[in-house]
Amino acid sequence: MGFQSLPDKFKEVQDLREKAKMGGGSEAIEKQHKGGKLTARERIEKLLDSGSFVEVDQFVVHRCYDFEMDKKKVLGDAVVTGYGTIGGRTVFIYSQDFTFIGGSLSEMQAKKITKIQDMALKAGAPCIGLNDSGGARIQEGINSLAGYGEIFYRNVMASGVIPQIIAIMGPCAGGAVYSPALADFIFMVRKTSYMFITGPKVVKAAIGEDVTFETLGGADSHAKMSGVAHLATDNDEDCLKQIKILLSYLPSNNMDDPPIMECADPPDRADEELNEVVPADPKKPYDVHEIISHIFDRGSFFEVQAQFAPNAVVGFARLNGRSIGIIANQPMVYAGCLDIDSSDKIGRFVRTCDAFNIPIITFVDVPGYLPGTKQEHGGVIRHGAKVIYAYSEATVPKLTVIMRKSYGGGYIAMCSRHLGADAVYAWPTAEIAVMGPDGAVEIIHRNELMKAKTPEETKEITNKLVSDYKNKFANPYIAANMGYIDAVVLPKESRALLIKTLEAMITKRDLQSRPPKRHGNIPA
Ligand code: HXC
Repeated sequence: MGFQSLPDKFKEVQDLREKAKMGGGSEAIEKQHKGGKLTARERIEKLLDSGSFVEVDQFVVHRCYDFEMDKKKVLGDAVVTGYGTIGGRTVFIYSQDFTFIGGSLSEMQAKKITKIQDMALKAGAPCIGLNDSGGARIQEGINSLAGYGEIFYRNVMASGVIPQIIAIMGPCAGGAVYSPALADFIFMVRKTSYMFITGPKVVKAAIGEDVTFETLGGADSHAKMSGVAHLATDNDEDCLKQIKILLSYLPSNNMDDPPIMECADPPDRADEELNEVVPADPKKPYDVHEIISHIFDRGSFFEVQAQFAPNAVVGFARLNGRSIGIIANQPMVYAGCLDIDSSDKIGRFVRTCDAFNIPIITFVDVPGYLPGTKQEHGGVIRHGAKVIYAYSEATVPKLTVIMRKSYGGGYIAMCSRHLGADAVYAWPTAEIAVMGPDGAVEIIHRNELMKAKTPEETKEITNKLVSDYKNKFANPYIAANMGYIDAVVLPKESRALLIKTLEAMITKRDLQSRPPKRHGNIPA
């Protein structure tokens, strides 16, 4: 029996590689492109630094014999896995290949993915999933479900250790949605991606509701209404670009610091316009984005969950080149009140920043929690508690700027000194009190108001009492007298001051002794 010659052996491996690269074949690739989607490999190429990708498990195949599956095999089994670099930093990646059996998750595909998850955790590098799959491979039954379970378990083990980012770039149905839901960030692509537990057909059969894929689980539905998606993007290219930007703010793991960028923006820049953004009339709204863009390094704000719960604004920016997590009330929406959704948004973002050593700066203009039965019955108590919990537990540097209203529970919850803020600054427009003047007067002066004989008299007394209350409490000075805030500063002075404070506190060690515990029990 003759040996296969060396050139033939070498050619064989090349041929197999080429075969693996074709996934489900040229027809399926064409269909993928016609649907406005890139292939699994094209996505990896666009995301990673050119030439950096190292593929793992290219020759893995499934081992299912039921439903004549032994006749249906391709190398790689519908997922491309490996590692490479983005901006020179290592990331691990898996990218599902819809061109073969709809990218469905088999036992062996799951083994490929979990291998990558394990490698990412060991290396302390981000793990990125590009999902495009019909879900559990039906022919493999319990083995594919087991695969999902193994992936979920690793998502949880890696949570808070390495950044986990998942882009939904095609269908994501059934329990498959839970791996993304356990990750740190979910990106979705408009018109080509959707996520739901039960699809439109099952919804129709179960409850008779007619709904499209897009409305039920499209990118905008999840970015706006459910808050499941952190970012809705326009197409595959846009989605991959946004992932790169996000990564530039994050460290590789929880033991690492976020990258520091060169900063051309002067640290002592003091924009006069910033003094004009908060109106003198406390009832007039303003856009908190304007405040953010004046204070942080120019053009550096990367907003997360922008469409969801817009009464709070959260995202990353840079301050003198350092990565910062920003949380701000937005007076343009519900006057900046906290409610169920904004509490969830803030609580989660604080924990994300804290997990990854990103200092937090909070901008406060909050009249309190949104009132009403919808909020109370929806559990605003337990949702609102998340904000207090997350800020209290966070040990990264925490700086707070009170821009205007800071009333009651909102004052405490929005990173007050009492929850461990390292520095709290107030602008001259700040009003720090138990509640707003109108409500306060009605309660504490009820007897006096009842003595009024005519509506005019009631109005006159009310106006006087409100004015007295404002003079006494609607300012930052009582809080400053107590040392609850560190300084009253002009808005335009904020950038320089925050930079100095941040530099002083960047080496922060959490010196409070915390009782040993298995883990806390955040209200859910
Ligand atoms: C096996 C699947 C599959 C699956 C798709 N395919 N999903 N094969 N298991 N889950 C196959 C199709 O049979 C087809 O094979 C090929 O992939 C492409 O699919 P099409 O239907 O032609 O594509 P399209 O029209 O774009 O529709 C995509 C789709 C649809 C909407 C995703 O395929 C679909 O509804 N699939 C089932 C989705 C689903 O219900 N998943 C939940 C599974 S249970 P051929 O050979 O014709 O090319 C689950 C539970 C997980 O995931 C629980 C975890 C805890």
